[in-house]
Amino acid sequence: MKAPILKKLSKAEGTVSGEVLSAQLGVSRVSVWKHIQQLQALGYEITSSARGYRLKNSPDVPYSWEFPGRESRIIYHEKLTSTMDAAKDLARKGCPDFTTVVAGRQTSGRGRLQREWHSAKGGLYFTVVLRPDLPPVLSFRVSFLASLTLARTLNEMFGLDVRVKWPNDLLVDERKLCGLLSELEAEADRVAFINVGIGINVNNDPSAIEPPATSLKALLGRRVAVKDILARYLDAFEQRMQTSALDRVIEEWKAYTVTLNRDVRVVTTRDVFTGKAVDVDDNGALVLQCADGSLQKILYGDCFHQTR
Ligand code: BTN
Repeated sequence: MKAPILKKLSKAEGTVSGEVLSAQLGVSRVSVWKHIQQLQALGYEITSSARGYRLKNSPDVPYSWEFPGRESRIIYHEKLTSTMDAAKDLARKGCPDFTTVVAGRQTSGRGRLQREWHSAKGGLYFTVVLRPDLPPVLSFRVSFLASLTLARTLNEMFGLDVRVKWPNDLLVDERKLCGLLSELEAEADRVAFINVGIGINVNNDPSAIEPPATSLKALLGRRVAVKDILARYLDAFEQRMQTSALDRVIEEWKAYTVTLNRDVRVVTTRDVFTGKAVDVDDNGALVLQCADGSLQKILYGDCFHQTR
């Protein structure tokens, strides 16, 4: 009921009477009033007078009813250990494709290679459960599409020049804006689910924790709405997952990367490699040309761009 009430209030020029709301929504005026009180308690600025209700302001919180058409697939928590844990539980219980767990902050946010992901209030932290009909060996394509689509969405929304760094970071001027982590479970030779976890520095300040990081607020000089970013991104990503030929994604991604043709250091769980990044192959592996001229393919790791 919250979604239709908010829709009617935000569409109205001025005040909407309780009587009109109850007639149009087919519920009692008392029920309308109860929902309005709940919305007010959640931070919606709704004035009430003898003439009715008026929506003056909405909080920037990704409550499920802020996502018409996907309300039942948005699971919002003000605080979680990690959206990856909650999403894994839901995925194992059979939740639908594109179920999205989002947290206002995380107490044990995690990054690639067992790193911690600082998740202070103001950032956007979410995990999308995906159920593509793919063999596990091709699952990397989904992560590449996720990061590519995010870079494009942010560029369209804010006129920025967000680029991708191998494997899945988003950078602006060499500063990290977003990180992406994928977890997969398979049954026989098909993917059961791929959970794509994304952390975006939006209105938080990551610079004190990780000096080479930035946020949308720092780049734009103003706060931006996390719920708008999530809505735009999920729509774009779901549309691409339904329509796009995943076999072209690496080519597209390469046109968007700042990792190629430069000297890099790549840290994996076992080794550290240095060399020139010359390609990303059809398996998503980074191809390094080492000092002795040999080529080294790396499937997973953390990549550090050396200064030019
Ligand atoms: C990285 O750059 O190492 C990946 C960072 C991924 C962070 C996101 S925030 C939402 C989701 N929940 C987590 O605990 N991690 C991912």
